[in-house]
Amino acid sequence: MIPGVPGDSQVYLNGEFLRLDEAKVSVLDRGFIFGDGIYEVVPVYNGNAFRMAEHLDRLDRSLAALRIASPLDRAGWIDLVAELIARGGMPTCLIYLQVTRGVYKRDHAFPPEPVAPTVFGMASAWSPPSAEQRARGISAIGIPDERWLHCEIKSVSLLGNVLARQQAVDAHVDEVVQFRDGYLTEGSSSNIWVVSQGKLLAPPKNNLILEGIRYGLLGELAAETGIPFEARRITREEVERADELLVTSATKEVLPILSLDGKPVGSGKPGPVYAQLRAGYDARIAAL
Ligand code: PDD
Repeated sequence: MIPGVPGDSQVYLNGEFLRLDEAKVSVLDRGFIFGDGIYEVVPVYNGNAFRMAEHLDRLDRSLAALRIASPLDRAGWIDLVAELIARGGMPTCLIYLQVTRGVYKRDHAFPPEPVAPTVFGMASAWSPPSAEQRARGISAIGIPDERWLHCEIKSVSLLGNVLARQQAVDAHVDEVVQFRDGYLTEGSSSNIWVVSQGKLLAPPKNNLILEGIRYGLLGELAAETGIPFEARRITREEVERADELLVTSATKEVLPILSLDGKPVGSGKPGPVYAQLRAGYDARIAAL
């Protein structure tokens, strides 16, 4: 029994589909021992994976950063995701993919001989944010970013993100807004956006944030709707004075942050830039 998940759901592990409660990985798997692996979370709407090509491009970038050869080619990943969706029986769900460096005698250095990576995939139940959640928005607190300096890699080494998220839980808010050296980075598992005087701002794409798949998408939607967009360093003061704050991730899609550190953001209600980007996001889902 694994708390919170149906044990009989079908997952993929190293070439086979099996029951979740029968899927087992060696204790010497480098993902378990060192967090030496990467992952992806792909949202699926009505059986269609959203921004699949972009997710697979990022998977390849993460694998390349760890110098792990991709265990599947592009068609193989696409087939695997399709199979997980079909077997999961949930037209709207999340697909989780993970690759670790595999199993070897414990040593920090990469195995000196070829080792098969461990490949895992599952479909998880998920509901997109409801109309009520969209209207309520989310609450957040600002915290120092204490993570490592390779946040651009979608690594399963997530302890910094886990501890950050727990700070949100302990403070009874939904997410954290992290700052490094006084500048905005991102949430514990999301990208953060600032709207100031009609302009959409995001921190630059570098090693201090994960380039969310929605980072590119919001840039496209802003261009389509004529919202000026700039990627640059954003001070904590600018965040605190923002007209609107937004959060994006596979699971949150795009949502307004309506309270930061217990104070209302802007008018305290979802703003006009959010409304435009939200409509664009919905249109992209509808066009899948
Ligand atoms: N998290 N930044 C971090 C640190 C993240 O973990 C995520 C996503 C994002 C947004 O990326 P995207 O738009 O591709 O979802 C930004 C996923 C959902 C997770 O870990 O569950």
